[in-house]
Formats: sequence, structure tokens, C-alpha cells
Amino acid sequence: MTAKPRILTGDTPTSTGLHLGHYVGSLENRLALQEQYDSYFLIANVHAFTTMADKPEQIRANTIGIIKDWLAVGLDPDRSTFVLQSEIPAIAELTFFFAMLIPFNKVMRNPTLKTEIETKGLGDSYPFGFPMYAVGQCADILAFRPELVPVGEDQEAHIEMCRDVALKFNQQYCGVGNRVPAAEHVQAGGLFPIPAAKVGRVARLAGIDGTNKMSKSLGNAIFLYDSAKDVQKKLNKITTGRQSPNEPGDGNNVLMQYVDAFIAGGDPARAAEIKRRYVAGDNLGDGHVKAELGEAINRLLEPMRARRATLDGPAGDQRVMEVIAQGVKRANVVAEETLTLAKKAMKADFVHRTIG
Ligand code: TRP
Repeated sequence: MTAKPRILTGDTPTSTGLHLGHYVGSLENRLALQEQYDSYFLIANVHAFTTMADKPEQIRANTIGIIKDWLAVGLDPDRSTFVLQSEIPAIAELTFFFAMLIPFNKVMRNPTLKTEIETKGLGDSYPFGFPMYAVGQCADILAFRPELVPVGEDQEAHIEMCRDVALKFNQQYCGVGNRVPAAEHVQAGGLFPIPAAKVGRVARLAGIDGTNKMSKSLGNAIFLYDSAKDVQKKLNKITTGRQSPNEPGDGNNVLMQYVDAFIAGGDPARAAEIKRRYVAGDNLGDGHVKAELGEAINRLLEPMRARRATLDGPAGDQRVMEVIAQGVKRANVVAEETLTLAKKAMKADFVHRTIG
């Protein structure tokens, strides 16, 4: 029994290559949360098949890569539970039941799905399973009955849908009244706490091109495993249009965003000083700021690079398999318990089963 409230969040292994945008957008948040919460970190490898069903080797490699990344960043599989989606049957089973609680048209109007269809160029040829993943995501979450779901802004529509499903389930199958506020559902006999999204400190980090969101495909990313030298080289490439250390600078430009993201956390006084002098044009050149940023970022990344290096090769793969087995075992205990309770509420419980 643990007294800590639960959180659940996850990543879809459609690519590898963590960069600083991922770090400030979610990983940093997860590192802090794993201290205070009973944390579940899910690898949505089944969801990866919605757009890459013809690339199973790649999904497998990405899955292993993401777990190595999590370990390198400092997520701790002893304190938190790593959940490999495809090994948790309760998630698939709940997905089908939950699909009855959401109007079809509502799924198809989900703005996150719509954006993905556009940005990934899926046209009208995507598989049935693609919109289905939004229902699946409700099951990913509710299987663990968490209170909070730490995600990026782009996921808020999914969390909203998940809340709708939980409300509906509790009302339809657990006798919770229509007027009971979300926060009181469990007290009122509901199986599911109504989870809330929790968006990270820096929702959007600009890339080194200074305008677009940092992204691997745009070629404007600083990766967590770039060498110290490459990190500095990339920072040095940033252009702000500022001509001299005495020209008043833009307090919101990419360099100042990075000061907020990578210096303010560790040394808020220094970050404030840099920003003040930069904006005032008080003898502080871009080159100097870049050098200080390089030091701060490399200080952050060095332990991650070192840990990641220990996970290369067969020994690293072996470690990942152990981490998966350990996480799946713990996750199935919780998810099976949820499924049993949900089936009971739905009068669909007939035989007892055990997994694992
Ligand atoms: N859809 C999420 C993404 O692409 C990944 C994900 C799957 C997830 N299941 C989840 C996130 C449950 C939070 C909770 O980023």
C-alpha cells in the first residue's frame, strides 16, 4: 500500500532522439514528479502501429531506445513503474468497453487527432485504429486510476476525452449522480478518479533557428546526447540580429528563452541579471550569453550522456528487458485490479483470472 497519489504519462515510440524540447516540456517534470507521486510511465508501442504498422522492427528499436533514454535522463524503474502497453491486456479490454461511452462523432472531432492527420499527411487513408488510439489512451490512463496526467499542451484534448469517459462510467455503472462534481466522484462511489492534465513549465521551446518549435525533423534541435562541443557549436549558430553588446536586446528571443529554461532553474539571480543587462544593452554580448548557456546545458547533459553510454550494446539491451519485465509485472497488478472492478461494475464479471 502506498499513500502517494498516482500519476500516469507516456510516449509513443514513433521516433527516437530526445532533445532539449522534450527535456523541458516533459522529462524535467517527470523527474520531479517521480519523487512525490506513485508514477506510471507508459510506452505506447501499440499506438505506434497506428501510423507505422508496416515498420515493426523500427517500433521495437524505438521502444528499447525510449527506455534507454528514460534511464539515462534519470527516471528510476525501482521508484516508478515503466509500463509497456502491449503487455497489459487490461488496457486493450478496457478500450473496447470505453469505446461504448464516447460518441463516434466526438472522437472524429478531437482536435489533436485532426492536427495529427494534417501534420502527418494521413489524408483519408488512415486505418480505423488511428482514431481508435484516442479511446485507447483513455484506457491507458484509467487502467491506473491516476489523479494527474502530466502531458504537453497538444494532449489536452485527449485528457478531456478521458475525463468524459471516467465521468460517464462512474455515472452509468457506479451510481454517481449527474450533479456530483468531478473531484468528488470517488467519494460518491465512482471507480475512477477524474484525472486532470498537468502541463509542464515550458510548453514550447524554440529551436536554434529561433522561430520554430524545437523538432528533430526541422533540423533545429539540440539533442540530449550531442557532444559538449556540438552543443556549443549549435548555440553559436543562433542569430538574433543584435549587432553589439550595447544594443538593447529582445528579452523574449531564443537566447533569453534558453536562459529561462536552463539557467533560471539552477541560478535564478544570475538569470535575472543576464536578462536585465541584455534588455538594457548593458555590455552583454550574444557570444557571452551563448558561452554561459553552453556551460549550463552541458552541466545538465553530462550525467545523461554518461548514463546513456553505459546502456549501449547487448548489456544495455539486457538491462532494458529486465526493466520491462519488472514494470509489466507491477503494472499488471494494478491494471488487472482496475479491470476486475470495472467488469464488476458493468455486471460483466463471470470468472476470476490471474495474469503474470
Ligand atoms: N499520445 C501520447 C503522445 O503521443 C502518448 C500517450 C499514450 C499518452 N497514452 C498516454 C500520454 C496516456 C499520456 C497518457 O504523446
